[in-house]
This record gives sequence, C-alpha cells and structure tokens, in this order.
Amino acid sequence: MNAIAVNAIAIDGPAASGKSTVGFLVGQRLDFLFFDTGVMYRAVAWAILDRGIESEDREAVGRIAEQLSIGVNAPSDGETDGRQATIQVGELDVTWSIRAPEVDSIVPVVAANSRVRKALSRKQRLIGLEHGSGVAGKAGVVMVGRDIGTVVLPEAPVKIYLEAPLEERARRRFLELTERKKEADQAAVLDDMRLRDRIDSERADAPLRPAEDAFLVQTHGLSVLEVVDQILSLAAKRLGVGPAKADDSDLPLDASLGNDVE
Ligand code: CDP
Repeated sequence: MNAIAVNAIAIDGPAASGKSTVGFLVGQRLDFLFFDTGVMYRAVAWAILDRGIESEDREAVGRIAEQLSIGVNAPSDGETDGRQATIQVGELDVTWSIRAPEVDSIVPVVAANSRVRKALSRKQRLIGLEHGSGVAGKAGVVMVGRDIGTVVLPEAPVKIYLEAPLEERARRRFLELTERKKEADQAAVLDDMRLRDRIDSERADAPLRPAEDAFLVQTHGLSVLEVVDQILSLAAKRLGVGPAKADDSDLPLDASLGNDVE
C-alpha cells in the first residue's frame, strides 16, 4: 500500500543510459520538476577534491556531505550553455566542473560512503515528496539516479530502469565530452565507466539495481522520443497525467539514444 499519494516518476539506470535527457523531457512535457540526484554526489566529490580530502577518508567525506551547501536551480535567462540546471556549491557555480574526469573517477567511492548516502538521500526524499505532492508549485516530480525506485522514493507509482550496452553508453559519454570541447580518450572513458558501474552495482548500501516493480527499457536502437513516449504512456496509466504542452521543438526528430554514434 502506498501510504503517501505522490506524483512521482523514478528513473534509474547506469551511467549515460539516457536518464537525464529523457527525464528532463518527461518533466517538461508533464510540467513536473526534473531533479537529477547525481549532481549532488558529484558536488560532494568536487568539494573533497577542492579541499584536498582523500575520498577514502570516510569520516571527513561524510562530514562534508552533511554540511555542504548545494544549490540546484533552473538556469537563469543568461545561462544558455546547454545546462539543464545550475549547480552551486555555496556561491560558486560548479555546473561544469562537477563533470570533470577527476570527479568521475572518485564519485563512486564517495557515493558508496553510507554517511554520504544518508545525508543526500534524505534531502532528495524531502524534495521528491514536496514536489510530488504538489505543494511546491509543480504537478509532480521526475527524479533520476541509481536508487530512486529502491530507496529515495520507493512509493513512486512509475518506476523506470533504463539500460543500454556499456560500449554504447561509453560512446555517448565520449561524444558529450567532445561536444563540450573536452579532451577525451574513448578507451579511457569506457574503462572508467565499466569501473564506475561495477562500484555502483557492488556497493553494500543502495546498490544500482532495478526496483522489483520497475519497468525496464532497453534504449539500444530507440530514439529519445520513443523512450519519452513509453514513459509518458506509463505515467498516463499510473498517474492519470498527460502532457502539459506538446513541445518537442528543441529536439531533432531523429535524436537517438541508441545508435547515434558509429
Ligand atoms: O551522468 P552519469 O549517469 O554518468 O552519472 P550521475 O547520474 O551524474 O551520477 C554520478 C555518480 O553518483 C554515480 O556513478 C553514482 O556513484 C552516484 N549516484 C548514486 O550513487 N546515487 C544516485 N541516486 C545518483 C548518483
């Protein structure tokens, strides 16, 4: 039994499985808040690099996670560099620095720390419940991560788990990096992603896995819009909600999650 009526869509899956692209569009179509929980783990990882703390120092890293002021806000009108949200640590804009390869390398270790998970998933649950219940001005929430359906919002009536082969996800991430004019080595991106998937899946606390009642979507070969449509039809059935606006104008019709890079 769901104790709380919450208009929530939980989207989980491994790195570069398309969670943010698809989740953002679903949020736009339903006028739901889109919230990417990964940015919070990345912000903590960025902060410990910035402060010269070892990622293995569980006490110090846990303390940072509990105390860090992380801001996640809709971009302002002047911020037109492709960001989905503006991420701040204190007053500092860290939107792009949390995507650096150095952060990628340590973020799974930081995210395996139970004290970090406790601090962040508590905040995420509050955000999810607040926006999912409609009291914060949005009709609902789309929350993406690794443990949304299992731990953060297990009562979400719509739970999605996105999958795609490792090689394909690594190609997508490589393309994202080169589009942002970052130097990247395709083989290194693949190795890093394999390692990150392994640590995320094998950690004791909230490992990456689909919730028992999650709807599995293999995105290989599907376009972005096909995946979005699958989620919207599930949302229509489970939540009784339909698109607030039919606006796909920003999206090339052939945009693909599955086989966009050769
Ligand atoms: O964008 P990408 O899928 O590569 O990663 P992300 O969603 O930004 O998440 C970065 C890291 O944060 C993941 O590799 C996990 O270690 C951690 N994470 C987590 O443990 N739980 C979440 N709900 C979200 C992210």
